[in-house]
Amino acid sequence: MDERIRIDAARCTSCGLCVKVCFPNYGTGPDGKVMTRPELFCAACGHCLAVCPADAISHPRVQSAACTPLREADRPSYEQYLGFLRMRRSRREFKDQPVPREVIAKLLAAGAQAPNGLNRQNVHYTVITDRAVLKELSARVTAGMGRLAALLRNPAGRFFFRLFQPRVYRELEFFLPLLEQVSAGKLSGRDLVCYDAPCAILVHTAAADLCGCEDAVYAAANIQYAAETLGLGTCVVGFITNPVNEDKALRALVRLPAGHRVQTSLVVGYPQFRYAKAPPKAEPQADYVG
Ligand SMILES: Cc1cc2nc3c(=O)[nH]c(=O)nc-3n(C[C@H](O)[C@H](O)[C@H](O)COP(=O)(O)O)c2cc1C
Repeated sequence: MDERIRIDAARCTSCGLCVKVCFPNYGTGPDGKVMTRPELFCAACGHCLAVCPADAISHPRVQSAACTPLREADRPSYEQYLGFLRMRRSRREFKDQPVPREVIAKLLAAGAQAPNGLNRQNVHYTVITDRAVLKELSARVTAGMGRLAALLRNPAGRFFFRLFQPRVYRELEFFLPLLEQVSAGKLSGRDLVCYDAPCAILVHTAAADLCGCEDAVYAAANIQYAAETLGLGTCVVGFITNPVNEDKALRALVRLPAGHRVQTSLVVGYPQFRYAKAPPKAEPQADYVG
């Protein structure tokens, strides 16, 4: 198989757009014609194919026929986009209604459009729709919260936790009243982890992947907004992520592949009601240099 990028000389107009989007692999020859360089570095992002107005490029790893034509009409205005962003809320109440497989596939397809390090497209998803597994996941995480509350209630436990995990402790202080209530059984009967959602999506990558965390979070954000377009609601559940990574029994329960790390976790379902307003968000904390 031909492993090189090719330019069809009969079609190429030497407009130079491919050189602009990909200087490592394209250049302009002394005759002013566009040429490919020996492939130095190619992430198979497909930008060269996508930008070429003459359809003159063939790429060994990106099929021209598989590229989707873009329509300017699909671009929302800033006002439409911001209005849509405001519609997303973290949802913690769901109808007792499963999310069909084909709808989940649409969510994951939106995740695939997210930016990712070196275009490796290595984000994996574990989609849990088995109610018994969701229940077990919630029960085990809740039990862990109770144990943590008990540890922190103990002055010695608190002292050592503070000493060895000062950053975690600072974050946990905020949750202490909730953990206390969980530990005292005051909230029993409620699913405080998966919120009785019919679906949870664990977004994971190889633990060693340097860009894994960011890749997963961008993908999850796309999924959250895609969910809004499909009448679904989502919530990021940080309380799931670390316990699954650290507890062997939980890893086995959700069948997390060996060597993988959950980077972020979502619950997904059909929300029970609509919000009438969007609460205000803090002003961006930005410093401008220049
Ligand atoms: C990293 C992260 C972890 C979160 N963990 C939880 C969680 O464990 N449980 C929960 O109910 N909400 C969780 N949330 C949702 C936040 O509480 C929520 O995004 C925030 O309160 C703002 O509300 P909004 O999403 O409706 O704008 C988490 C959000 C993020 C980004």
